[in-house]
Amino acid sequence: MRSTNIKPQEYKVGKEDRIGANGHLPCIVWFTGLSGSGKSTIANQVEQKLFGAGIKTYVLDGDNVRHGLNNNVDFTEAGRQENIRRIGEVAKLFVDAGIVVLTAFISPFKRDRESVRSLVGEGEFVEVFVNCPLEICEARDVKGLYKKARAGQIPDFTGISSPFEAPENAEIEIATDRLSVDQSVETVVAYVMNLIKPAK
Ligand code: ADX
Repeated sequence: MRSTNIKPQEYKVGKEDRIGANGHLPCIVWFTGLSGSGKSTIANQVEQKLFGAGIKTYVLDGDNVRHGLNNNVDFTEAGRQENIRRIGEVAKLFVDAGIVVLTAFISPFKRDRESVRSLVGEGEFVEVFVNCPLEICEARDVKGLYKKARAGQIPDFTGISSPFEAPENAEIEIATDRLSVDQSVETVVAYVMNLIKPAK
């Protein structure tokens, strides 16, 4: 059932007020990449740095959000689409709240990522392609899931039995098989700081 007979309400405290109070712009920093590519590790450390610099931040992480808000969506194409749609809407609310929201989801489908981009304004969506070859993610196998997927125990596993559509025009691409965590983190932090606190 879709919502009907609804009218947007105007509130007196707006996004501009929050931006003024926070002293920086909000945005979505959207990490995309294979399981085990390093999304959560990098998002975690980027948040620490930004938070330490007085930026209002929050992280939405696939493994966490799928335990709560999205505990009823699966890993089929439709399930992932709904997962990302909801996260996009939540991330948009965070942007309206004046916050730099970092998201760490595989988000394998280009179309789903682009529809999130279209929810917010120009310069409010920073796509970060955490680019690590499948062989390396599989060799790391931090959660032991690739082994299970190869054994046929996990259907629709990204990179094995479900596709990953690599971004073509991501704002940032980090090759986590070649860069250190510190280098990867620094690249993202520098980009985001410049975006949200433009030199006057
Ligand atoms: S997404 O594709 O819908 O964006 P999401 O980032 O929320 O995925 O969740 C990915 C996490 O779920 C992985 O890091 C892994 O721990 C777990 N997982 C469980 N089943 C699968 C699967 N079939 N494919 C990928 N990841 C899976």
